[in-house]
Formats: sequence, structure tokens, C-alpha cells
Amino acid sequence: MNQRRYRANPGIRALSALPLPEVSRFIQPVFVEEHLVGRRLLENLPGIGVDSVQTIFTTLEQDLQAGVSHFLLFPIPAAKSETPDLTWFTEVLRALKTRFGEQTWLACDVCLCAFTLHGHCGILSADGTRVLNRETCTLLAETGLAFAQAGADCIAPSDMMDGRIAAIRKKLDENGLEHIAILSYAAKFQSVFYGPFRDACSSSPGANPVLKDRKTYQIHPLNLNDALACAARDAHEGADIVMVKPAGMYLDVIQQISRSAQKPVAAYHVSGEYAALELLAGAGLASREAAHLELWFALQRAGANIIISYAARHAKHWLEHYRF
Ligand code: PBG
Repeated sequence: MNQRRYRANPGIRALSALPLPEVSRFIQPVFVEEHLVGRRLLENLPGIGVDSVQTIFTTLEQDLQAGVSHFLLFPIPAAKSETPDLTWFTEVLRALKTRFGEQTWLACDVCLCAFTLHGHCGILSADGTRVLNRETCTLLAETGLAFAQAGADCIAPSDMMDGRIAAIRKKLDENGLEHIAILSYAAKFQSVFYGPFRDACSSSPGANPVLKDRKTYQIHPLNLNDALACAARDAHEGADIVMVKPAGMYLDVIQQISRSAQKPVAAYHVSGEYAALELLAGAGLASREAAHLELWFALQRAGANIIISYAARHAKHWLEHYRF
């Protein structure tokens, strides 16, 4: 059997491959920080910065020109509090909507970890030993509502509490926001690859005396059943898109969920995974562009419909210039 005929020239290689990932299916994460002056570059996330409420307009403008129009926004408040005043962020959202309208699609991450002093994704019990599920869901739903009212197209809860999708959906529907989508961080694993993100948001729970990690709410990497059940449950509660996160080491999960979910599946190539490729490329051990493309191809092969990547703003350029 001659298999090498499929590899004989670029023409047959292009014809026999799966389709390349679509540029229109990429989402660019963007950080925006209250009281920041200018743009702050992140040492641990090469090439990525945190925007101020002013610079975010230029960033999105440039990204639109580069060919990415879907964004996942992460608000970083200046001061930590379990009940932060997010007016500064809703004002940014309103202004972004006024400026860009339907040119952009804005998803907003909803979670407490960047807000709380303890860095956990929810409200802590008085003795600091537990993250309270119900109380957290109530707060997440209120935050989601505020973001949706300010113009977010999509609410993206990343906290991993039970029932938050139902709580957010109910809150949005009660307020006439049936058309606002929910992107659920459904199969979110407990992972070391979130490190650079936590540095960016100062959201690491590591300094807590009792609860030092997120093991009581993020999924264990070996618990496939838990991931599949979460994706099915979130889809059932009203998530419009289900996410698997991290991405590159969870291709089996992406594949299984994409076959059963009957919803678009998003794969989030997280900060540490991104940084790993950037550092490899920075050390001269791989081509940066080729490394990200190969990873994206793997996500595509596994069945991801949507790719969330810190390099999304390069996707159009890289894919257009890709040679089989
Ligand atoms: C938690 C949250 C995390 C990320 C986004 N929202 C993970 C965590 O800190 O546990 C990670 C994103 C990344 O690493 O790129 N609300």
C-alpha cells in the first residue's frame, strides 16, 4: 500500500488533510486592569500585556485589523474584595460596544479569583476551609447580569461551582437577556499550567493557610467521568458553548465531549501551555509559528470547534501563509 503518495507534493497534502482551523473560530484573551496607566507587559506570558481602560481600545482595534474579532475579557480590579465595585469595567464594556458594535464579539470571564484576597474562585466559609457553592453562584449570576447589561455578548464563568450555569441563565432570562450566550468552562482541570495567568491577575490561592489549591472545585486530571458529567450537565443547564481547559494534554476529553455534546466545544490553550511553546521558540528549539500551528491542528483533529489562544491574533496571518 503506497501511503507516501499522499505526501508527495503540497497539492496532494492539502487535498488529503482535514480542513485548517477557521480564523473566525479563534478567541483572543485580553486582560484589562483598573487604574493601570499604559500597557503592562507580562514577563511570564511572552508577548502578552495587560491593558488599561484606555489602551484596550487600541489593542482591540489592532486585533480587528489582524483578523481576530472574538475576545475573552478578564477584568483585574485595582483592590481586592469579595464584592468588588466593577463599575469601571462595565463602563469599559459599554464604551467598547459603542465603539465597535457587532464588529467584535465580547465574552467576559466571570469569576471571583482575581477579586478576592485569598485568590479562590468563590466565597470562603468563615473558617477558611471551604468554598461556598450557593453563595458563590448568587454572586456570579449578579456579576454576569451586570456584564451582560453593559454589553457583553457572552458570559463565561470559570469558577467550577455546581449550578452556576443554571443560576446565570435564570438571572439573564429574568432580565430580558435571553439572547446573551453562556460559554461554560465546563471541563476545567486542576492544572499547573495556569501559573502565568495567576501571576497576571495576582490570583494564586497558594498563600492561604488551609485551602492552598483549587482541588475542591477543579477536576482531577484523571477523572474523566467528572469532566464528561460536567460538560453534559452544563450543556443541560443552558451553556451554549462548553470548554475544555487546558487543551493540549486533554485531547481525549475534547474528542469525547465534541462527539456527545451537541454544542460547540471550545479548547482553551492556557497561559502555561502558551508560555511553554513561547519559551521553546525563544530558546531557538522550535519555530514559534509552527509550534502554535501544530498545537492548533491537534485541537482541530480532536474536534474543537473554537480555539482560545493567547496567539489568536496571529492566526489569520499564520494560517494564510501556511504551506502544506
Ligand atoms: C479561574 C481562571 C483560571 C484561568 C482563567 N480563569 C485558572 C485558575 O487560576 O485556576 C486560567 C487561564 C490561563 O491559564 O490562561 N477563574
